[in-house]
Amino acid sequence: MALFGLGGKKSRVGLDIGSGLIKLAVVDHSSGEPELTKVAMTPVLADAIVEGEVMDPGVVTEAIRGLLSSAGVKTKGVAVAVGGRDLIIRKIQVDRMKESDAYDVIRWEAQQYVPFDIEAVELDFQILDPDSDGLQMDVLLVAAKRELVENKITLLSDSGLKAETVDVDAFALHNAFAVNYPEAMEGVCALVNIGNETTNVNFVVDGVPLLTRDLNIGTRKFREDLQRGKAMGAEEADEALRSTEQIPELAGYVTTRADEIAIGFERAAAFLQTAGVDAGKVQRFYMSGGGARINGIVEALGSRLGVSPEVVNPVQRLKVREGVFDDIELDEVAPLLLMAIGLGLRQA
Ligand SMILES: Nc1ncnc2c1ncn2[C@@H]1O[C@H](COP(=O)(O)OP(=O)(O)OP(=O)(O)O)[C@@H](O)[C@H]1O
Ligand SMILES: [Mg+2]
Repeated sequence: MALFGLGGKKSRVGLDIGSGLIKLAVVDHSSGEPELTKVAMTPVLADAIVEGEVMDPGVVTEAIRGLLSSAGVKTKGVAVAVGGRDLIIRKIQVDRMKESDAYDVIRWEAQQYVPFDIEAVELDFQILDPDSDGLQMDVLLVAAKRELVENKITLLSDSGLKAETVDVDAFALHNAFAVNYPEAMEGVCALVNIGNETTNVNFVVDGVPLLTRDLNIGTRKFREDLQRGKAMGAEEADEALRSTEQIPELAGYVTTRADEIAIGFERAAAFLQTAGVDAGKVQRFYMSGGGARINGIVEALGSRLGVSPEVVNPVQRLKVREGVFDDIELDEVAPLLLMAIGLGLRQA
């Protein structure tokens, strides 16, 4: 499923434009099995992207250009993702029909679920039970404000690039997740991606990314905690967040912030309940994003929610070309790369 585009291609360049870091992953699709051939990342100046909105396009386009050129990527076509408040994902039911006939019906049906002007919306859908012969079919509906998609396309063209695909961020995460964790495609699983500004909570039910919610919390909040409460500088605070050692100054904040994430998680889980899924049955719990590296957070969230989280490794099962992680420490960046790799994995 993609909101826009997708053409046949041997190599796909996935570009995850985060508010803290821009990540790039190149996946070669020329043989039967996809292979990761390149990863790279570059920091974004603080406040250049705030709440998903690009405040300083010049800074961001320069960072993107710099990243591609230092990584030696000459391809102009890239895959990117959109997410946030201006996008909704919802499971709906409509009368069973052929996929080719479904678009107009679903577009009409979507009006009652989409809180924005349907004329200004990019729409996509997937029939979840195509092989069933029930009178009704389950459809996963995605609707994004057209502006959201257009802004992303403009940002790329201002960076000298072309958007080949505009994906949904939760689906890009899911895509990489599914390849590496096939065992999570059964039953109810949760994936919590803690980024710089946003934490995405995703529920996967029998392999379908059924529900996603964004929480307004990320490593930035932890940094501010340390800056305000422990008089650290921004750099020092960020180093503390990335450290694998225990940082005593951090411990108290980890507990409080993990509690905040847990509350958001439980609210999201309640929505799952209204969709008829027993959220108490979360069988597996995974974490990704830069925030998943904060010392103690996995344990804090796990004990608060009564689960045993696993930190995602996006190359757990994915083939990796020799030398890809020569200049970049896999252990340090693995959980941050899930979305970029998911975008690179998108096939025609
Ligand atoms: N190896 C690392 N290199 C750089 N930053 C790291 C590293 N490990 C953890 N971090 C922290 O993770 C943050 C970035 O995480 P991530 O890339 O998941 O967020 P993002 O995608 O930029 O943010 P968002 O999705 O919220 O816009 C950094 O701001 C930093 O605090
Ligand atoms: Mg991110």
